[in-house]
Amino acid sequence: QWDSEEPVPRAELLSGVAGTRGLLCLLSDRIDREVLDAAGPDLKVISTLSVGFDHLALDEIKKRGIRVGYTPDVLTDATAELSVALLLSACRRLPEAAEQVKSGGWTTWKPLWMCGYGLSDSTVGIIGLGRIGQAVARRLKPFGVRKFLYTGSGPKPESAAEFGAEFVPLTRLAEESDFVVVTCALTPATQGMCNKDFFGRMKKTSVFVNTSRGAVVNQEDLYNALASGQIAAAGLDVTTPEPLPTDHPLLSLKNCVILPHIGSATYATRSTMAVLAANNLLAGLRGEPMPHELKL
Ligand code: NDP
Ligand code: DGY
Repeated sequence: QWDSEEPVPRAELLSGVAGTRGLLCLLSDRIDREVLDAAGPDLKVISTLSVGFDHLALDEIKKRGIRVGYTPDVLTDATAELSVALLLSACRRLPEAAEQVKSGGWTTWKPLWMCGYGLSDSTVGIIGLGRIGQAVARRLKPFGVRKFLYTGSGPKPESAAEFGAEFVPLTRLAEESDFVVVTCALTPATQGMCNKDFFGRMKKTSVFVNTSRGAVVNQEDLYNALASGQIAAAGLDVTTPEPLPTDHPLLSLKNCVILPHIGSATYATRSTMAVLAANNLLAGLRGEPMPHELKL
């Protein structure tokens, strides 16, 4: 047992996991062949305190017949709420404006000072209309969004109907959206998907938000797009690496709002996630159906 909020050091994980039957891990623990080998053949279940599972070597896990539990649904509302907060912070320049109040930059009311972009009559593009993507669209709709676009591995007419969302290729989503919100899973297909070509297609007035995983974005390309004015602003809850070094170029930009991966960080949500992860683990150890088992 690692009784600390800090990540377990790799060497401790490798030695501590030896001979275990079950493993409860965080998204910051990379569970790869090395860890699985260190655990040995008794390992029967892995329970992650996350809905994302890109830190798990699923092919290797499946080959060894290990079951995996995760935490979908229970964090959808909190993460969607944070995505909306981040979008509004970026498009209405909230951190920059609040800083002006503290620094004395607020001299008087000026017609164009601190103007940004609003959601009214806008087009919002959702990359990955899954649980969180839909919950974001549901929250944004009452702001007066005119049109929702989405992309993914294929059309999802039933999920899209609620928003009248149109399935489009990634290129069209980039070209037509005033706001792009990334809520897909990190997979080989989505890694680096938001790159120079993608940002180059976006409008100069558009805002980019990512609450999925940092690696979906080519950060150098994002930096160039923001610094050159190719896009208006960005809001990121996830980066590569995490934590982002405090001297990272993205942190020098006024039009980039960066949060420390707090999408699901409400007390209630984290508590529910913890209970679910524990119950997944226990069910797996008992050989019973898990409350939420990942289909491998
Ligand atoms: P879901 O599985 O419900 O949704 C994932 C979506 O990704 C699906 O709609 C899927 O679309 C889409 N997707 C897969 N491949 C592609 C692709 N090539 N292009 C575009 N979209 C694609 O998961 P959740 O909504 O519950 O969570 C999504 C992710 O959010 C998690 O994997 C995690 O990484 C991240 N997350 C981040 C949090 C934070 O704190 N910032 C908190 C919680 C989650 P399709 O069905 O068409 O394949
Ligand atoms: C997840 O669950 O995948 C998030 O990134 C943290 O809640």
